[in-house]
Amino acid sequence: MNRRSFLKASVAGCAATLMPTFSLAKSDDGFFELTAGKGQARLFGDDGGLSDLWLYNGRLPGPEIRVKRGERVRVRFLNKLDEPTSVHWHGIRIDNTMDGVAGLTQPAVKAGESFDYDFVAPDAGTYWYHAHTMSWNQVPRGLAGPLIVEDDVPAFDPALDITLMLSDWRLDDNGVMETASFGGMHDFAHAGRLGNWMTINGVSMPDIPLQKDRWHRLRLVNSSSARVLDLAPSRFGARVIALDGQPFETPRDMDGTLQLSPGQRMDVVMRPEETGAIPFETMTGQPITFATFKVGEASAPDRPLMLPARNDLPEPDLENARELPLDMAGGAMGGMRGMMGSRADMQRRMQEGLFWAFNGKGGMDDTPMFSSERGETIVVESRNDTAFAHAIHLHGHHFRVLERNGRKLVHPDWRDTYTTVPDETVKIAFVADNPGKWLIHCHMLGHAASGMMDWFEVG
Ligand code: C2O
Ligand code: CU
Repeated sequence: MNRRSFLKASVAGCAATLMPTFSLAKSDDGFFELTAGKGQARLFGDDGGLSDLWLYNGRLPGPEIRVKRGERVRVRFLNKLDEPTSVHWHGIRIDNTMDGVAGLTQPAVKAGESFDYDFVAPDAGTYWYHAHTMSWNQVPRGLAGPLIVEDDVPAFDPALDITLMLSDWRLDDNGVMETASFGGMHDFAHAGRLGNWMTINGVSMPDIPLQKDRWHRLRLVNSSSARVLDLAPSRFGARVIALDGQPFETPRDMDGTLQLSPGQRMDVVMRPEETGAIPFETMTGQPITFATFKVGEASAPDRPLMLPARNDLPEPDLENARELPLDMAGGAMGGMRGMMGSRADMQRRMQEGLFWAFNGKGGMDDTPMFSSERGETIVVESRNDTAFAHAIHLHGHHFRVLERNGRKLVHPDWRDTYTTVPDETVKIAFVADNPGKWLIHCHMLGHAASGMMDWFEVG
């Protein structure tokens, strides 16, 4: 992140007020209509240029799709881009044919064509949707939006239930999205396509209006394609209530920082006691402010804090689990050490742009990483033998994170995407109960495109 540009914007005093996410209404026949097409936005604020983006319904971020737990969701998707695309509903335990993975669960939707997505959203929480065809190119151009599944009894006034899509961008000196480096092999082999600028709901350095003495729920989504955010909720007075959509038993004070990796979500609650300004920062390196909470007087009396109810996720049966390895290797800076095969193999992989591997294999073919009986508990022990962090996402399922570096975690939280840092081992467990072919991949989208992607099958 470029601290100088941040300062420039704050000195100019051009902070704009946060735009709340636009909530998509259903059409008369009960469909949400979602169209991918070209559009533009000023990512750097008023004094930056217009960037050419790819957007859903012309909006940045894409419109918020908001449904109730258990609701049938029908989305009529139209592709007005010049290339094929598809839509993935990240974190939803979805029917496999609706998962949106081009080439695995559906053919890509060609330019000019449409596709009806039709699924049930079984779990309440904060989710998102994004392109899943050439995602390394389509997502960082803007094809992402929030998907909120409401609790049976929504506990917050809509003005206090705030979705914040955090995205980073690589901007040039005019504040315009740089495009020449899309698909660059250097990024793929390193940390991915890191940006130098952040927006929240498409707004640069926004002021986020809050009300004094009232409980707010902030739904944070990291839709960046590579940027890990190190957030410190306690510094802005917030407590964490859910990760990746799945609520905790009680709100948790987090000392220090909590990583929000690409694809992950974090729900926090906060009740500011003073009017005034609170910086919203990422602690990567030194604290960098990318928004300001502006606390004003309350417009109505507060309601007691009501926490989201737990979702009915299948509990792993650890006694009868099957254990599988996930060895991550590859990448620049010494990570090639864990790559298997001969020197000639290695050279061929590099020429194909496959810098990364899961269990010695770069990229996907017809053989799944594993096949499972329906209902079987799978424990995956992953080892990050690379010089970079990764955010591993499983489609169609949620898992518990049990252990890090051999130590049992106090809170084996449910997630759909977990972060792993260099040399770390992480053990997760889940019940493979959703039939179909599912992806497992790094959500640093350049890594996924260059080898960190495979699939598994549930019978
Ligand atoms: Cu959010 Cu396979 O992705
Ligand atoms: Cu990765």
